[in-house]
Amino acid sequence: MSPLASVERRTKVDRNGFRGLPGPTRRIYDLVAGIYPLSTLLFHEKAHKVALSLSGISDGMRVLEVATGSGEMFRRLARINSGGLTCGFDLSPNMAARTQRLARRRLPGASAHCQAVDACSMPFRDGAFDAVVCCYLLELMGGEDILRALGEMHRVLRPEGRLALVLIGQHVPAFNALYRIAGGLAPAFWGRQVETAVPDAIADFDFEVEHDRKVQQGFYPSRVMIARK
Ligand SMILES: C[S@@+](CC[C@H](N)C(=O)[O-])C[C@H]1O[C@@H](n2cnc3c(N)ncnc32)[C@H](O)[C@@H]1O
Repeated sequence: MSPLASVERRTKVDRNGFRGLPGPTRRIYDLVAGIYPLSTLLFHEKAHKVALSLSGISDGMRVLEVATGSGEMFRRLARINSGGLTCGFDLSPNMAARTQRLARRRLPGASAHCQAVDACSMPFRDGAFDAVVCCYLLELMGGEDILRALGEMHRVLRPEGRLALVLIGQHVPAFNALYRIAGGLAPAFWGRQVETAVPDAIADFDFEVEHDRKVQQGFYPSRVMIARK
């Protein structure tokens, strides 16, 4: 990537200057790993289902989930991909360990592996996966790291592979106002909304968007995007 292109991309996702707080983010998600499934159930489950239904993921594929959290989506993926390979990772060792433990216990026959890794530097070869799934991660990263993570997702996908990306939606003004307050109080946990900026960055990586859906679970808005490499 030329330095100019890098600056242009960063500017698009970095409008409000949030730099990300990887150390505090890892620590806070480590702390909440045991209770995080409740948040997934209340806010993320509907968008997870929509993303899965549009992703084209089927049994026998090589699938990667980036930032598994406590593993609810990871187990869905491993369940429908029981004859394939499902890999996942999370920055928080407690989240990754919980995801691995529950996948082993509940889906003993599946080839499902989860580890503690940073999305900015993935330990996988180029083109290793048929599909990459990433839900509600980019909000927690600074602009530079968003671009690194998207670059890594692009790199580890095979040609024509699909990226399923879920972002916190920005189409509910009252929710946006609350999110700004929450993000100001605990930036390492909430980050900030990036939904309207990320599609440009995806397009710059030569992803072709195939589906783009707004989803709402109660008051909580999401945007589900499926893009082909
Ligand atoms: C808001 S939670 C979302 C969890 C899950 N994807 C879901 O849909 O419920 C964000 C997760 O991203 C992880 N995370 C934050 N920064 C990361 C990074 N740089 N690399 C990998 N995971 C990261 C956090 O530890 C946390 O588990």
